[in-house]
Amino acid sequence: MSKLKIAVQKSGRLHDDSMKILKEIGISVDNGKDQLKASARNFPLEVFYLRNGDIPQYLRDGVVDAAIIGENVLIEKGNDLTIVERLGFSKCKVSIAVPKSSKANSLKDLEGKRIATSYPNTVNQFLEKEHIKANLHIINGSVEIAPNIGLADGICDIVSSGSTLFKNGLKEVEVLLKSEAVLATSPKISTDNQALIDKIQFRLKSVLKGRE
Ligand code: PRP
Ligand code: MG
Repeated sequence: MSKLKIAVQKSGRLHDDSMKILKEIGISVDNGKDQLKASARNFPLEVFYLRNGDIPQYLRDGVVDAAIIGENVLIEKGNDLTIVERLGFSKCKVSIAVPKSSKANSLKDLEGKRIATSYPNTVNQFLEKEHIKANLHIINGSVEIAPNIGLADGICDIVSSGSTLFKNGLKEVEVLLKSEAVLATSPKISTDNQALIDKIQFRLKSVLKGRE
């Protein structure tokens, strides 16, 4: 019998809630953070614990059939992939922020300026749409420190509670998108495995309805 391969964030903000929702739909998986792979006991499913940013490519290549992933990551790296269900947790925004003392009040004010971000595609799309030219400085983490160390005039990163912005003396000037965890599938998924996804989706819908 075929098994559904599903990617879940290995560690980070989505991990716990992803495992929780699998449990709520009646799929028990050993939550082994040290393992990279685990099988479900009562559903033909294998969980692969992967790094967020790698998941879109694994989906595209059909290495995994499905993933629980932040929509923000899909928009940045997997705009071609299919969202099956929005899962209602890990809600966040991808926003532009500048130092509190800055005169800038919108993205337009960053014309010709430097923006530090881990989301270059998302920012570029937005800049193009708004006909604004800015210089992107791509960094992988601790983006909010960039203005303080003179690396950038503004940043674009995830805002969840807002505490990282606050701690770094930044103010949000533009929300580029709102995101939550989603279930996405591979374009290469087999018919058998798609049937398993349909089952999962059916269960998810009833769990999500119960949460309302
Ligand atoms: C993430 C994100 C923001 C912050 C947002 O960073 O990049 O910096 O969380 O959350 P908040 O609004 O609740 O403060 P993370 O702590 O994961 O570290 P990293 O950027 O170094 O990967
Ligand atoms: Mg950060």
